[in-house]
Amino acid sequence: MSKSKEVVSSAIPASVEPVRIAVIGCGYVGLVAAVCFAEIGHSVICIDSDAEKIECLQQGRIPIHEPWLEELLRSQNPTSLRFSTSLADAVRASQVVFIAVGTPPLESGDADLSYVEAVAVEIARSIDSYKVVVEKSTVPVYTSDWIARVLRRNGVRPGEADIVSNPEFLREGTAVTDFLYPDRIIIGTCSDRAFRIMERIYRPLIDGSYSRRPSAVTLFSNETRQATLLRTSAKSAELIKHASNAFLAMKISFINSVANLCEQVNANVEEVARGIGLDRRIGSQFLRPGLGYGGSCFPKDIKAFYSIGEQMGAELTLLREVERINERQRDHFLRKVRSTLWNLRGKHLAVLGLAFKGGTDDIRESPALSLVKSLIGEGATITAFDPAAMANARRAIVSPRLELAESALQAMDGADALLILTDWPEFASLDLSEVKARLAQPIVFDGRNLYHPAVMAERGFTYVSIGRAAVEAATEPSELHSAATPYRVA
Ligand SMILES: NC(=O)c1ccc[n+]([C@@H]2O[C@H](COP(=O)([O-])OP(=O)(O)OC[C@H]3O[C@@H](n4cnc5c(N)ncnc54)[C@H](O)[C@@H]3O)[C@@H](O)[C@H]2O)c1
Repeated sequence: MSKSKEVVSSAIPASVEPVRIAVIGCGYVGLVAAVCFAEIGHSVICIDSDAEKIECLQQGRIPIHEPWLEELLRSQNPTSLRFSTSLADAVRASQVVFIAVGTPPLESGDADLSYVEAVAVEIARSIDSYKVVVEKSTVPVYTSDWIARVLRRNGVRPGEADIVSNPEFLREGTAVTDFLYPDRIIIGTCSDRAFRIMERIYRPLIDGSYSRRPSAVTLFSNETRQATLLRTSAKSAELIKHASNAFLAMKISFINSVANLCEQVNANVEEVARGIGLDRRIGSQFLRPGLGYGGSCFPKDIKAFYSIGEQMGAELTLLREVERINERQRDHFLRKVRSTLWNLRGKHLAVLGLAFKGGTDDIRESPALSLVKSLIGEGATITAFDPAAMANARRAIVSPRLELAESALQAMDGADALLILTDWPEFASLDLSEVKARLAQPIVFDGRNLYHPAVMAERGFTYVSIGRAAVEAATEPSELHSAATPYRVA
């Protein structure tokens, strides 16, 4: 049975031994973790230094776009989930303190760990009894050692705190279900005491009992899922997170390289990706060609992982190429736009998608946003639509050449071409007759391969996608995009 849209009260089953938890940082990870810990039966205080964010949460409003989050927040009673700006009070009231603040990239590529350090200092000054301090933020190997050192330097006595690395693998857009039904839960610690408490926190997800609750958020597949618990050292746990993200980014860059070859030899990358992915050793996920990875995690984590490898004398040179391919992918797409439209100066383009991927309002390192900036830089005027990311995009790009539309179709009115830049599901089911009627020219650049070239050709579009031969509207001179005539660089 799935949780309906209305508020459902979540009685805590007897099998749950509630733990008092503080989560520091109410961002995409901290807020989801806090709400989900409360959902599975624990008592949670979520802290942020941003008073405005806390006020918004205290009023029951969610500052980010994330499916399920609002319903779950509303279904908690005020004693199981609270929001505050007082880190000290939260630490004193809790057994376990999760650090979930940002770790943005520095110029050097290293992760900026100053927020983590600042929080560790504050935790140390507030400790009045034994605490488990958990790294939830993505951090380089050795951070747990540094946190332990900071706690000691700030007066925490041996035995008063244990450090655990518990990396988070959720994806924005499906964060709640990813958190409640994870493939694995990694607990990295040398302390048996801390491990037992962490196991208690995650027990409903490990033994599958959460998924059997009548009020549980369910997956589409409706299966009972039990997460695999893996205990490691803290350093291994830190490396598992960076290595996982690096591997996924590598898959994306790999398929994008294959896509570019497909374009040259007139093959279809979707067929190739399916053929590769059916091999269970490889798997089909993250083999979707597109505009490259973005978001707040992959770009910075790849840089930080490379940097720590270099510092330790074990350079991960492969990652440099992964990054290069990713950066080139946007330029390659831009070249296709130029080679089809000729001059961009004075052109009016409709853009669908601004978020770094579908399902989120997050625009950090968004390929879509970077392409919009480039197009504006070349003199085009953009009318864009995104179901969730328009407010963030408006703050990020202040230009009279960017207009925001109220709907996907409205963005297309009179445009010289349509560019699909984010894989929102609704962009895959547009009324093509309406699209054609609204565009001044029936030209579509699909950076996410949401449509079939044959269908688009039949409907009279010039259609340019990734790793598949472009097709041309019947009215176009048939010369532009075959394998034999590579895309021209303007
Ligand atoms: N976003 C993801 O999909 C994702 C997934 C897995 C892991 N991670 C990792 O989790 C960490 C957090 O990422 P995020 O996307 O949630 O970041 P975010 O920027 O959305 O949120 C961080 C929050 O921490 C708060 N904060 C900063 N300093 C603080 C302090 N001293 N006291 C209290 N609050 C403070 C900020 O105000 C902000 O609300 C990062 O290390 C990230 O790499 C993110």
